[in-house]
Parts: sequence; C-alpha cells; structure tokens
Amino acid sequence: MIQIGTSLARKKFEKRWFPLRYHRKQQQLFRSRTRFIGVPAGRRSGKTELAKRKLVMSLKELKPWGDPRYFYGAPTEGQAKRLAWKDLISMIPQSWIYGEPHHSELMIETKFGSTLHVVGLDKPQRIEGDAWDGCVIDESCDIKPKTFDLSVAPALADRLGWCWRIGVPKRHGVGAQEFKSFCEKADKDDDPDEACFSWPSSEIQPAEVLRWYQERMDARDYAEQFEATWQRAAGQVFFAYDPDFNDRACSFDPHKPLFVTCDFNVDPMAWVLFQETDEIVEVFDEIWARDTNTQATLDVLWNKYGEKMRSSIHFYGDATGKGRHTSASMSDYVQIATDKRFKSKGATVHFPKANPNRSDRFAATNAMFCNAAGRRRMFIDPRVEHLRIDLEMRGFKAGTNEPDDKGDVGHPTDALGYAIFMRYPIEGKPDGESRVVIRTPGNGKGGNGRNGNGKKNGNGRKRVGRRIPHARRTR
Ligand SMILES: Nc1ncnc2c1ncn2[C@@H]1O[C@H](COP(=O)(O)OP(=O)(O)OP(=O)(O)O)[C@@H](O)[C@H]1O
Ligand SMILES: [Mg+2]
Repeated sequence: MIQIGTSLARKKFEKRWFPLRYHRKQQQLFRSRTRFIGVPAGRRSGKTELAKRKLVMSLKELKPWGDPRYFYGAPTEGQAKRLAWKDLISMIPQSWIYGEPHHSELMIETKFGSTLHVVGLDKPQRIEGDAWDGCVIDESCDIKPKTFDLSVAPALADRLGWCWRIGVPKRHGVGAQEFKSFCEKADKDDDPDEACFSWPSSEIQPAEVLRWYQERMDARDYAEQFEATWQRAAGQVFFAYDPDFNDRACSFDPHKPLFVTCDFNVDPMAWVLFQETDEIVEVFDEIWARDTNTQATLDVLWNKYGEKMRSSIHFYGDATGKGRHTSASMSDYVQIATDKRFKSKGATVHFPKANPNRSDRFAATNAMFCNAAGRRRMFIDPRVEHLRIDLEMRGFKAGTNEPDDKGDVGHPTDALGYAIFMRYPIEGKPDGESRVVIRTPGNGKGGNGRNGNGKKNGNGRKRVGRRIPHARRTR
C-alpha cells in the first residue's frame, strides 16, 4: 500500500514539474540574481508558474543562517491561498517537508530549516518584524501602494533578500501606478539591483486561445492583458497630454523665476516644479515623498534648488480648509511664507479662497498640453516620472466626470493643475478673484517683475487677486 501511495505521489509530483518549453525571457528571469525584479507580462504567460518554481527551488539553498524564509504574497489572503497554497505543497518534494504543512498559518517547514509562507498583503504586518530571504508579490497592480516600500523592502534588508513583483500591466487597480513606475524605472536605469522582464502571452499561449479573447475583448483591454503593454486610462482626464509631443528635456535656470505647485497631501506629498519662457511652461522636476510634511519638503526644495536661485520663487496650491477635495491648511502656507530662506529670495504664495470647479482645472491643464489650435504650451521632462505616469493613467469613473482616483493616483496632476489654473485660466472662466496672495519682501535680488500676480496671463488679461503683503495678515 505504502509503495503504491509513494509511486502515485511521485508520479503526481513529476507531472506537476512538467518541463517548460524554452522561452528566452523566462530563462533570463529564472536565472537572474538581481534582487528586485518587475515582471509586467501578459495574462497566462507563466508569471506565477515561474515564481512558484523559483520559491520552491530556493528552499534548498544554503544560507549562512539556519532558517531561510520565503513568501508568496498576493493582494488578499484568500487570493494568495487560492492561487498558491495547495499548488506549492504539491510542488515541494515530500522528502523535503518537515512534519505536516501548517494549514492554519499557511506555512511549510522543510528539513533544511527553510520555511515557505503564503501571505495576503492586505495586512502587511503579516510579514513585518521578520527577516526574509526572498519573496514573490503576485497581481502587483492590486497591491496597496507603499506595501513594497514600507513593509517588503525593509523586511528583505537584513538578508539582502530578493523580490519578484509580478502581474499583468493593468491601468486600473490600487497599485497600478506604483507597479508601472517601478517597472519603468527598473527597465531604464542602470541600478544593478533592479531589472524588468516583460513578454506577451502570444509567446506562451497558442494562437487559437488568444483569438478567443481577441474576439471578445476591446482592443485596449486585449493590449493590456495579453500584449503586456501599459495602456492609458479609458476616459483619460488629461487626454491632451501626448508623451510623443509633450515630453522633452526641460532644464532648470536659476536666473528665471521658479514656480512650485503643491499638493499638500501627507502621503504622498507631490510638488511640481516648472519655469516659463514666453508663456511656455517647462516642468523640469518634481518632489514626491511619502509620510512627510511641508517643512521637510521645503528643506528638500531648498537644498536642491532654493540655494541656487538668483530669481524669485512662487508657490501655488489649493484652497485651505477641511473640504473633501482640499489637502492644504493655512499653516502650510504660513510655513512657506515665513521660511526665512525662501523669503530672502523674494517669494509669493498663491492659493484660492475656494477651490475652482475641478473640471475647469482639468480643462486649463489640457489646454496647455494642446489647445484647439493644436498649439502645445506645456512640456514635461522625461525624468518627471510620477507626474508623467499620473497624466497617462488618471481616468474618469465609467460614465461620470468623477476621476477614478485610487491609491496614489491624482496627486501630482492636482498639484500641476493648481498653478496652471491660476496662471493660465481658460478665457471666460473666473481667474481667481478670490485668490489669496502672500508676498514676502525678499532681499531685492529676486524676481524680475514677472511673478505670479500682476503678470499677464495667456489671454492677455491682467490678473487680480486679494493681496496680503505679509503672512501675518492672514491670521
Ligand atoms: N514556458 C512554458 N512552457 C509551457 N507551459 C507554460 C510555459 N510558461 C507558462 N506555461 C503554462 O501557462 C499557464 C499559465 O501560467 P501562469 O498561471 O503562470 O500564468 P500567469 O502569467 O501567472 O497568468 P495570470 O496572469 O492569469 O495570473 C500554466 O499552465 C503554465 O504552466
Ligand atoms: Mg498568475
């Protein structure tokens, strides 16, 4: 009886480890020793299969410590269990397993001392507090933002562990923007700790299977799911932005006024930096930081650009208060206006008393990317990564004019829109009569008289705004 059982188990095991057809990218991925790998590959293209094989093979690897730890993570525990738990048990040789798999903890111990865990990353604390040797994060577009930065990466630090972030490159999903940003960076930069592997489903799945989907899905869904291409959001908010035309190298000139437009959300804090030449806006940098505050962001700005400035600096943001769409508070603006460093350069701070209609802000921004006459007046440097991704991915909820802002979506483009709406309003729209402007004296060196207020706007109209000569008057 035992012999039959054993041989059946062996057959089952061998069947499970069926040989994969050769695929160059899959091979490269499997052999890669790079620590952090993004795999935005097509649906049914072997991402999960390869990841499971990698985890199982790792269990036998010798380490200087006696308890190597690995996990397979998915957006929720239910999903992780469904996608991997039973399958991983069937993939580990019986002779490797120590005792019985721990079904309640979703953990398998091996005789080598290593353990394999299946975890839902909806509660990242499940992996915090332990040192890990390697992990897989599946369905990455649905993973809550920050999970990798705040929970996974620190947990891998002690043992220089590795992580595969895998998933279809979806345009929807709470983690879509973060996954895209990670993959694009890993693909482009030459950080030896990062790599990206991508391939379409057609290189793995037979043509007739794909034809079935092709006939049933719209072109954009198919391209995303099976061709593994990042698609722009349907009902894109910033439809006039076209990277082919609006992306170009933009440089910083310390002799020209600097415009800093801020979304004061704490996590992430998103500030966009631009300069202007003859009413052409060039966005040359951004500050994008997690769990931070206005003071820390001002420090970053000062160290990077403020010190070098030989001209004035102008801050823009949204209305203060506790409104649903408001993240700024009066103290943010007072903090900026009273910062001695920026005061010495001659700074102004601009914000509306009440927020404009959001669609007016979107319209003003779109008009700068491309107006009805086909003229493009706003350009983004390709390095301004978070803003560019947000411009491409921010979409409306189906059938509404409500932006579908999940996770980190919306903050960089909101930041950009605050200044653009005030500086380049569309003809006929109110241009900020209820605007508050805080002026700081400066040292006489800053500014060239073409700062935020009093400057002629794109329509040749002179702006009016309520001016408060000194921050103290705003209290
Ligand atoms: N190189 C290969 N040779 C043979 N079969 C393969 C190969 N790569 C993947 N497969 C098979 O393709 C199927 C889909 O694989 P898998 O579930 O890993 O895809 P996936 O990319 O994770 O899909 P999804 O996006 O739906 O999660 C599996 O049956 C897997 O064994
Ligand atoms: Mg999968």
